[in-house]
Amino acid sequence: MDFSRRGFLEMNAALAASMRAQVAPNDRVRVAFIGCGARAHELMAGVMAHPQFEIAAVCDAYKGRVERALDRIKDTRGTTARVFRDYREAIGDKSIDALVVATPDHWHKIMVVDALNAGKDVYCEKPLTYKSAEGLEIIAAAKRTGRIVQVGSQGMSTMTQNRARQLIQEGKLGKVTMIRAAYNRNTASGAWIYPIPPDANPQTVNWDMFTGAAQKRPFDLARFFRWRCYQEYSGGIATDLFVHLCTTIHYLMGAQMPSKVMAMGGLYRWKESRDVPDTLNAILEYPEGFTVNLSSTFNNQSSSEASFNFLGTEGTISVGWGQLQYWPESVREDNRWIVESWPKGLQAGYYNDPKVQKEEIPSLAQAHLVQGGTEWREEGQDATIIHFWHFLNSIKTRKPYWEDAAAGHHAAACAHMVNQSVRTGKQVEWDFSRDDIKGS
Ligand SMILES: NC(=O)c1ccc[n+]([C@@H]2O[C@H](COP(=O)([O-])OP(=O)(O)OC[C@H]3O[C@@H](n4cnc5c(N)ncnc54)[C@H](O)[C@@H]3O)[C@@H](O)[C@H]2O)c1
Repeated sequence: MDFSRRGFLEMNAALAASMRAQVAPNDRVRVAFIGCGARAHELMAGVMAHPQFEIAAVCDAYKGRVERALDRIKDTRGTTARVFRDYREAIGDKSIDALVVATPDHWHKIMVVDALNAGKDVYCEKPLTYKSAEGLEIIAAAKRTGRIVQVGSQGMSTMTQNRARQLIQEGKLGKVTMIRAAYNRNTASGAWIYPIPPDANPQTVNWDMFTGAAQKRPFDLARFFRWRCYQEYSGGIATDLFVHLCTTIHYLMGAQMPSKVMAMGGLYRWKESRDVPDTLNAILEYPEGFTVNLSSTFNNQSSSEASFNFLGTEGTISVGWGQLQYWPESVREDNRWIVESWPKGLQAGYYNDPKVQKEEIPSLAQAHLVQGGTEWREEGQDATIIHFWHFLNSIKTRKPYWEDAAAGHHAAACAHMVNQSVRTGKQVEWDFSRDDIKGS
């Protein structure tokens, strides 16, 4: 697939054209939603905005979310969907073409592999995995079955990130050796302390269905609705947020995996609500010759929530949600403070050298203006919708989109390396020959 800016625009135009086309019911892709939580409801809007998709079935462990999903489908399409009590009913139903897996992370691999083995295409929310080795199972299952896997880090489908990718690939930044990316928040909801629906109780919430293979525990609504706060279901900041950052960095830099990761994490504020850090710092070193600093705190949001800085020898780009800035570097050698400590004659000699006059700031530099950078703001179609529609394109063409099982495995594995380093206090290395964490 062509991922140049032109290719990206053409692909978007093709997606829009397919959306305008009349679609016979038989040509529709019949999707089952496994997990109908907050993210699934956003995805449903994207699915139903495209006439070639039909939400044929829904499945969730909390009744209220199934109810809202059916309402949403009725309000948008005037139709209804079947309700499955267990995801395996969708796996066994031949009329279902594709699954959207939007459950907590500890369920992803099980559901994705089962769906692939049953011949379904799968859109799985990020992070693709809960443990690194699960990625290898998913890649093998996708290969064996020839089915499509697409992972849900939608940022890489924005025009902003595609323009940034183009600038990097055109060499506008020169050599990029340092990338800084951050995700900061300072609210309870930002720290995943979500409100719990007042009708949630053992009659409306299927606790065993949520728990799955995780440790058996007594019924607990905080764990059920705020599962990101607990290591048994999630990798916390690393798997929830760094995974987005790593997906983008890999996509923009054309990189696969860091060879080494070191990280530190602390739980400084939201102590009663979780067993994962609320502050995390990580350094990733890539064999392509660059390093990445990832950081996140849930205790301050003075900068924009998510941002990236790609620092190159010839320029810098700064990428935020929906905005992109580029500045060329403006640098001159300046040895004045050194040469001014030399004997006078030697100093004068130094500045008489035409090469020095050309390349260095002369001692009496003329004031001059330096041309500034360029800025873009993205408007229009929401990234989640564009990203999801690429899944449709892949289903039709049988060609996976860039964020396939391997890309999802690698972005999630970076997060697992970060968490392993925090846990062990040691540097964690990637084994490129096994495509997994060294020593795992
Ligand atoms: N791409 C993004 O920007 C983005 C944003 C938010 C969430 N996500 C991802 O989406 C996924 C879901 O997150 P969320 O915020 O919607 O969480 P959520 O808790 O709101 O939704 C998860 C849903 O899964 C249901 N569930 C749990 N176990 C189930 C099972 N065995 N079978 C069927 N349903 C089950 C729960 O009842 C719940 O309604 C996560 O992987 C998360 O990382 C991605």
